[in-house]
Amino acid sequence: MRRELPGGYVLDDDPARIDVEAAHAYLANESYWAKDRPLEVVAASIAGSARVIGLYHDGAQVGLARVVSDDATQAYLADVYVLEPHRGHGLGRALVEEAVERGAHANLKWLLHTADAHALYRELGFDRPSERVMERSRR
Ligand SMILES: CC(C)(COP(=O)(O)OP(=O)(O)OC[C@H]1O[C@@H](n2cnc3c(N)ncnc32)[C@H](O)[C@@H]1OP(=O)(O)O)[C@@H](O)C(=O)NCCC(=O)NCCS
Repeated sequence: MRRELPGGYVLDDDPARIDVEAAHAYLANESYWAKDRPLEVVAASIAGSARVIGLYHDGAQVGLARVVSDDATQAYLADVYVLEPHRGHGLGRALVEEAVERGAHANLKWLLHTADAHALYRELGFDRPSERVMERSRR
C-alpha cells in the first residue's frame, strides 16, 4: 500500500521503508508512553508487527502506526504518532484510518491504549472498553 495525501504526504506500509531510528527518536525521547525504550526494543517491535504504516514527507518519516495482530481475529493499535510540526492537518486521522479501516485488519476486533486524542479514535469506531476487558501490566 502506498497512498498519497494532500500536502505532499505519503502513507506507505512497506516494512523496508520504515526508519527505525526515526521511530526510536520520537518514542524514546518525546512520547509519554515509551520513554527511554531502547533502540533494539523499537526495532524488535517493528519487526514483530503485522503491519507498520509510515507517514512520509520529503522522503523523511514524520509519523507511524503499528498494527499488532494475529491477522485473523484481533488487532491492537500501537505507537501512533505524527511529529509535532506536521500535526493538525488530518494526518493522524489518515494514519489511524488506514490501519483500522483499510487493509487486511479492517474487519477484526481492535484494541488500543491512549491518554488523549480520544475524539480522533471515537470517530473511527473506538469506544470505552466493556467490563470484560482486563489488563496485566508489565512486571
Ligand atoms: C494524536 C496525533 C497522532 C494526532 O495527529 P494529527 O495529525 O494532529 O491529527 P489530525 O490532524 O488528524 O486530527 C484529527 C482529530 O483529532 C483531534 N486531535 C488530534 N490530536 C489530539 C489530541 N492530542 N487530543 C485531543 N484531540 C486531538 C483533532 O482536533 C482532530 O479533530 P477534528 O477532526 O474534529 O478537528 C498527534 O497529535 C500525536 O502524535 N500526538 C502525540 C502522540 C499521541 O498522543 N498519540 C496517541 C496515543 S497512541
